[in-house]
Amino acid sequence: MKKIISVVGTRPNFMKISPIYKAFQKYQDHIVHMICHTGQHFDKNMSDYFLRDLDIPEPDYNLGVGSASHAMQTAKIMMEFEKVCLKENPDLITVVGDVNSTLACALVATKIGIRVAHIEAGLRSFDRTMPEEINRILTDQLSDFLFVTEQSGLDNLNNEGIDINKIFFVGNIMIDSLIHNLPKIKKSNILNKLKLKKKEFILLTMHRPNNVDNQHNLKNILNILNSVQEKIKIIYSIHPRSAERIKQFGLEKTVERMANFVRTEPLKYIDFLNLTLNCKAVITDSGGIQEETTFLGVPCITIRENTERPVTVTKGTNLIVGSDKEKIMKALNKVLKNKWKKGSIPELWHGKTAERIVKVLRNEYFN
Ligand code: UD1
Repeated sequence: MKKIISVVGTRPNFMKISPIYKAFQKYQDHIVHMICHTGQHFDKNMSDYFLRDLDIPEPDYNLGVGSASHAMQTAKIMMEFEKVCLKENPDLITVVGDVNSTLACALVATKIGIRVAHIEAGLRSFDRTMPEEINRILTDQLSDFLFVTEQSGLDNLNNEGIDINKIFFVGNIMIDSLIHNLPKIKKSNILNKLKLKKKEFILLTMHRPNNVDNQHNLKNILNILNSVQEKIKIIYSIHPRSAERIKQFGLEKTVERMANFVRTEPLKYIDFLNLTLNCKAVITDSGGIQEETTFLGVPCITIRENTERPVTVTKGTNLIVGSDKEKIMKALNKVLKNKWKKGSIPELWHGKTAERIVKVLRNEYFN
């Protein structure tokens, strides 16, 4: 019997672990698969509802670390996760994405001789001011299995001299979740709940430190969004970090004055994707949403200077506009005139990624 612990910590991790959990269930005679939640995200609507909607069982461990500075959060996760590793002595851990939980757990496991599989390896924004970029580079250096979503990931890992035998191009695990849940997503009644009509609103998410933690940048973006909402309604699924900053910088009144700008609590997975499917376009600074919109063929205007997911631009429906008002308004006009590029679905984004990952691990650990 082999033992694998899958680590989750934040909202974007849950949809990546759900397909893996299901795929491992088929091999219960050979593999004990456990889930460890670091507790990096802890609000019900950032964590619990996601576990439930994605059919992930109650995690075997919840480290309950919560929010803190990067060093504190990473250190707390490491201290707690080491105890789990020493007690359970797994053969392998899987980590997903690029959050602090990903790097912290990969580092702990490697140092005590436990192998690490990184799902969503190789992505690079080449912007080291992003905490996620540091997490990506270091996690990939530590990992024994690197599961890659797109060609750029293979190129980046090759350029960094990572042993080619450790790298597997398996497609996009998050799209597995999306495909699996599409029937439920289509049935969500969130449009009625929010009194929205199909294709008559923009869906907004924005929480990157660069956009919201700097008062000048946040003011500038809100000013641009003010012009956007004069043309079309905006629905903003607001992350706690951004809600805090709007208050802290005294921007509440500015936001309240925007009549066509509606803030909601962080939405549940199924509801959020229903809105993605039915909106006119998405404006976002998220990573994963650039991929989900590409899969669904929905226009995506990315308010960042770069992307670690270039296939969403070269093949998909994504456009990088930074925080430049002219570029954003030009993109919006294209959307409103239905002149957005069509895009296509990237290679291997077809819902079989978890199966491919488990096949690689099966060949390694049992047959
Ligand atoms: C983290 C990830 C980011 C990911 C995002 C998804 C890192 C470095 N960043 O950023 O890559 O895109 O998750 O959401 O790991 N908070 C709550 N409740 C929660 C979680 C957070 O109130 O459940 C608030 C706290 O005040 C906290 C702030 O949000 O200070 C930021 O949370 P944190 O986990 O540090 O990073 P995120 O911004 O969520």
